[in-house]
Amino acid sequence: MADNVILVGFMGAGKSSVGRLLARHLGRCFVETDDMITAREGRSIPEIFAERGEAHFRALEEETVRLLALKSGDVIATGGGFYCREGRPEALRALGTVVWLRGEFEALYERARRAGERPMLAGRGRHDVEALYRTREPYYRQADLTVDTTGIGPDQVATRILLALHERLSLSSLGRGPGGGAA
Ligand code: S3P
Repeated sequence: MADNVILVGFMGAGKSSVGRLLARHLGRCFVETDDMITAREGRSIPEIFAERGEAHFRALEEETVRLLALKSGDVIATGGGFYCREGRPEALRALGTVVWLRGEFEALYERARRAGERPMLAGRGRHDVEALYRTREPYYRQADLTVDTTGIGPDQVATRILLALHERLSLSSLGRGPGGGAA
């Protein structure tokens, strides 16, 4: 099995900043699915949404899943909707350990609104964004590990992930895992 660490979660969960820290701690390469898409397209994510629409962006994400199969040992941060398609949880869990950066909706929403231009927030009010979050939660729940980000910063989240990865590894070496778990 490819031993990537794959971060999933809603916009504003801190996947990029936590992923970068985690990669540094583990001495691994850091990859972002959104960067893979913008590099291939030569356009930013907002430009892709504006010029080609969401359906095209989702097709690019589908292509990216196939490219991720070539990766091994990397820390991979995914876009907020990347994990939330039929078959995706299974496809990504086959590529490594999937970690859900869970957070309270209100905090995620506020953070997502503050930082960066996010096409999925454009033209959607708070209620619509929350509805989107609720449709995605059942997918996120299928991660191998869940790490709660409520009220803590990227450094502490990265530390929690390291501990959870450690525990998972020692359980599997004892022949008792890997199974689901929370930190
Ligand atoms: C999206 C989240 C974004 C990016 C794109 C679509 C989504 O990534 O992939 O704008 O559908 O939630 P972040 O989660 O890093 O904001």
